[in-house]
Amino acid sequence: MGFLFNSDAARGAVFRQIFARELPDLEFYHCSENIDSDKVRYLLTWNVPDDVSRYRNLEVLFSIGAGVDQFKPEIIPDHVKVVRMVEDGIIRMMQEYVVLGVLALHREMLAYREQQRRAMWQALTSPQTAERRVGFLGLGMLAHAAIDRLKPFGFPLAAWSRSKKLVEGVTCFHGEDQLAGFLMETDILVCLLPLTEQTRGILNARLFSFLPTGARLLHVGRGPQLDQAALIEALDGGRLAAAILDVTDPEPLPEGHALWSHPKVMITPHIASVTQPHTAALSVIENIRRHRAGKSPIGLVDRTRGY
Ligand code: NDP
Ligand code: OXD
Repeated sequence: MGFLFNSDAARGAVFRQIFARELPDLEFYHCSENIDSDKVRYLLTWNVPDDVSRYRNLEVLFSIGAGVDQFKPEIIPDHVKVVRMVEDGIIRMMQEYVVLGVLALHREMLAYREQQRRAMWQALTSPQTAERRVGFLGLGMLAHAAIDRLKPFGFPLAAWSRSKKLVEGVTCFHGEDQLAGFLMETDILVCLLPLTEQTRGILNARLFSFLPTGARLLHVGRGPQLDQAALIEALDGGRLAAAILDVTDPEPLPEGHALWSHPKVMITPHIASVTQPHTAALSVIENIRRHRAGKSPIGLVDRTRGY
């Protein structure tokens, strides 16, 4: 019985080496090899192959990313456990990116970039961090980790999640009823929600209308959560002052799309965090050990919720 790595050869080579050391009893296959599909018990992949049902002995399907929205749930057999990537590399990079993005928005970096383009030398006033409220949509693994890194700067911190939460130093909101109240007290909005039917299009004109005038957006969730036309309207109308987008829909945006050249927008190519093979291999191995011991894997997806 074995583990099938269905992704790029470079990361596959790292996984193979670590698996040989840590789980020598488990066969390791790369997707480029000819394999007996009956031998595949574990599959690590970004997309679920259309013919996934041919792996008749598959028990666990691992996503190579933190998100699982790219999986087509209807083709995954019901008995298969779906596990998202929870690993130190993804967490550390997301902490870096969120701190970078929040500080850039707080300290007017997008406005200065525009001033530089126009050869303008002019100081802009920024409030102190204690007066700039940072709010997270989603209070899961990555938001928690990012919040930990933001705490020393002194921003008032808040978050909104599906279920009720209690986190020290964070004002917690939950559920539809508390969304507007959360937004009204948010100056920099960070989106770290998974993409589900409930969160698709959530960053829309109505949501922006609850934010204080001049609020900013840092979007690191998924492109289809954002109504891009509504964002442009909110930026042009002054409701929002700036936006940093690490995700778009589609990725990349078509040539000439208004967001590419918008002076109040910064786009990065979905690089906020990237699965790091050394740490990811260890975390998948830990989950295989847990699964073999009859324990629940870390990052197990609730297939009814979709995340
Ligand atoms: P988690 O599953 O740990 O957390 C998700 C959070 O979102 C939870 O707090 C959950 O609430 C909340 N949530 C989900 N649905 C709703 C809803 N309908 N209403 C309110 N809150 C909701 O996810 P992670 O923190 O690990 O990752 C979040 C997302 O970040 C990923 O799914 C992925 O899309 C994105 N990502 C982006 C990357 C990038 O490079 N740009 C890299 C990695 C991830 P509750 O706690 O109540 O369940
Ligand atoms: C992920 C991502 O989900 O890269 O890991 O977005």
